[in-house]
This record gives sequence, structure tokens and C-alpha cells, in this order.
Amino acid sequence: MGKKILVATGGGDCPGLNAVIRGIVKRADQEGDWKVYGCMESFNGILKDHMDIRRLTNQDVAGIHVKGGTIIKTTNRGGPFHFPVQKPDGSWVIEDRSALLKKRVEELGFDAIINIGGDGSQRISLGLSQMGLNVVGVPKTIDNDLSSTDFTFGFQTAVEIATEAFDKLVTTASSHNRIFIMEVMGRDAGWIALNTAIAGGAEVCIIPEIPYDPRIIAQKIAARYQNEYGFCNIVIAEGAKALDGKVTGVAPSAVGDQHIKLGGVGEKLKSELESLGVQHDIRVTVLGHLQRGGTPIAYDRVLATEFGVKAVELIKEEKYGNMVVYNHPKISYVSLEKALETPNFVKPETSDLVRTARGVGISFGD
Ligand code: F6P
Repeated sequence: MGKKILVATGGGDCPGLNAVIRGIVKRADQEGDWKVYGCMESFNGILKDHMDIRRLTNQDVAGIHVKGGTIIKTTNRGGPFHFPVQKPDGSWVIEDRSALLKKRVEELGFDAIINIGGDGSQRISLGLSQMGLNVVGVPKTIDNDLSSTDFTFGFQTAVEIATEAFDKLVTTASSHNRIFIMEVMGRDAGWIALNTAIAGGAEVCIIPEIPYDPRIIAQKIAARYQNEYGFCNIVIAEGAKALDGKVTGVAPSAVGDQHIKLGGVGEKLKSELESLGVQHDIRVTVLGHLQRGGTPIAYDRVLATEFGVKAVELIKEEKYGNMVVYNHPKISYVSLEKALETPNFVKPETSDLVRTARGVGISFGD
């Protein structure tokens, strides 16, 4: 019997989202009478007073696997359990609209939901699944901070973009005998910074999991200049913390957004190094959303397509309440509960990547 599938993308965008959507639509189409619909701007498309749900056909998804972003839009504010609603007096309240979502899903005749998103979105998947809806999760995050999958799509693209930028900074750092600090994304997990530092040959790598001491970094810089290299390149994750344990950023201004807007830790490190007497010219580059935009690299297109196809296969087998994962060499699945048990952070004591980085002389400022 034909099935109607509702697809949503939630949280920050990520290269590869469109490749997942295309994989879902193409695989579902092979079932003959299955239909896929996009819920526009995450679950807002079904939660708002004016619903916005659009049919996705093979024609709609043709060629989109090479495009960044998501054709069905996304948001990292609110969600069915914390939906921001503006009152006539202009004030905002947060409402639980999950019952409304369930009612509408049933009224519209959707058999299953595929929710593509990171940690926050998969918590929503779990909540909806516990309410009796047929949900399959697809993991997404450039931060690669979900532990049950070896990789999330988008991560390798972000590392590629960061490494390419870093390579450019190395040449200008060496020409001018400067210190360059490049700030990359990574809220709680330092995977992008760590991989970029090794791929790019950084001298210093600062990640959220290893609190840094600016005095150690200043010593490393002094040694670099004494050895007549005369320049130094540092990668720092936006969520990095000095010994005081504080992150750098601003409080969220948008209603329904619970996250601090991280940014500025590179500038903070620059000031700390200057106050410690480092006199070489220090420049800071913040890559920001450049790491999330644009076309996914081939690796992420493949992984994203595999995830999309697998999500439809799980629906065919009625294996709901699960999240698609990649455990080399298999594309498989785990329960949403299991998927959310522990985040995937760098483990400084046991990580092979940290050992490798230290092995080629990269300092973590510890
Ligand atoms: O979670 C992915 C991520 O890119 C984080 O690294 C970053 O802190 C956050 O999203 C930025 O989100 P926004 O687009 O809302 O600024």
C-alpha cells in the first residue's frame, strides 16, 4: 500500500542536506505509489497557522545533490515542544504544539516522518516517536558530535573548506613573519579544528575539550621564532575555553533560540597573547558560516545519499523510532534513545587524532 512521507530538515544547515532529500525522494519513488512531502522550515511548515507542506517529486530533486543548503529550508529556533508564539501585545510565549503536530500529521494522512537534523532535532524525533508517531531520524551536523555514527555528512566538507583557508593563511603568515589565528566552528566538539590542524600543519590547535593556557601558547610561539621559522599558525574552535572555563560569544537575541552565539575567541586569544608580551604581528580570521555553505564534497554527497536511501528502507521495514547511522563499512541504524545517549566529543586521553597531533608537534595549549 502506498505511503505518504513527511520530510523535515532542522537546526543549522549543512552541506549534504539536499543529497539526503534527493536520496529519499528517488528511493521512495521506486515503490511506485509512495509520495514524499517537504515540511518547510523544519516543523514550522506543519505547526504554523498557515501550513506550508510541499510535494517533492523526482523532478523537484533532480540535480540538487550538488547544492548546499536545503530546498525545504530550516530553522534552529523553537520546534514542536517549544514553539514561539507572538501575542497581540507583541510579547512572546513558548507553547508546546506537539499535540497539534500529531493531529495534523494524522489528518493529512502521513504514515511516517523523516527528521534530518543534529542533536536538538533528534531529541524532537524522540519526543514525537514517544507520542506514537512513526519517525526515522537522519543525523546531520558539521560538528560531527553525534556518537553513534562514525561521521555525519557535512563534516568532511567543513574540514575541507577550513583546510583550504588555512593553507592560504600559512603562505601569508610565512611571507610576513606573522602569527595567524584561524577560528573555526565547533561548539562543544573540536573535530573540525583538530582535523584542520593536522591536515594544514598547524603549530597550535585549541579545542573545547582541552582548556588552554595562553602562557603555554606564548612559549610555543617564542620557540618558533627562536628556531627562525618566524611565523606561527593557530587553529581555534569557536567553543574553546581558557582555564576559566568560559566560552566567548553573545546571548541569543532571537525568540526560541537557546544557544549562545559563539564567536570571538580568536580575538580573545590575540589579546591574551599581547598582554603576555608577544610582540609579533597577530592576525585573526573567523571562517564562520563559510564552513556550512556551498557544495558538499563527493564524500558527503555519497554519505548523505546513503542516509536518505536507508531512511526510506527503514520505513519500508516499519523500523520506526530509529536513527540512520554509518558504522564502517555498513549503513545501519540505532534507536533514537541510544543515538542521544552520549555526545561525540574528542577524548583527549585516548584519541588517536590528539596523539597524532602531539606526535607532529602540535600544541593544545595545555
Ligand atoms: O552545530 C553546528 C554549528 O555550526 C556550530 O558549530 C555553531 O556554533 C552553530 O551551528 C552556529 O549556528 P548559527 O547558524 O545559528 O549561528
